Amino acid sequence: MKVALGNDQGGTILREAVINSIQSCGFEVVDCGIKTEDSVDYPDIAKEVCSKVTSGECKFGVLICGTGIGMSIAANKTPGIRCALLSDCYSATMTRSHNNANVMALGGRVIGPELASLIIATFLMTPFSNEERHQRRIDKLEIVQTEEIE
Ligand code: RB5
Repeated sequence: MKVALGNDQGGTILREAVINSIQSCGFEVVDCGIKTEDSVDYPDIAKEVCSKVTSGECKFGVLICGTGIGMSIAANKTPGIRCALLSDCYSATMTRSHNNANVMALGGRVIGPELASLIIATFLMTPFSNEERHQRRIDKLEIVQTEEIE
């Protein structure tokens, strides 16, 4: 199974730890990020990562920018994407279990590599609870998005 990784210049600092963590969980990394601190636009990277998730090529996406905020806002514009901005393991567990989040975002200038690695492992290894009430709420998210388009 594959995980799409994307980062801008604010996320380059966390790249290596993030790649190691994804691979340690048994996933292959599809790298859509940059290796330098050259200036790029985070919406472009988020769009590429999200398209790999919605197409089914990748099971999950991991996005990193300076705060994680720009990437998470951008990712949540894509229909079918539920992106959680994470800075703790409890939220990583709950967003997989309750929201069935398929993309997560991190702030490269907010958290360090050790915490980032734990959050990613928690996110990738936690299943969706499959409870009816959670699926019902997720279905409503998609309805809201469709209504906005109409
Ligand atoms: C880039 O400097 C920075 O704006 C970006 O990484 C991110 O933090 C945006 O939300």
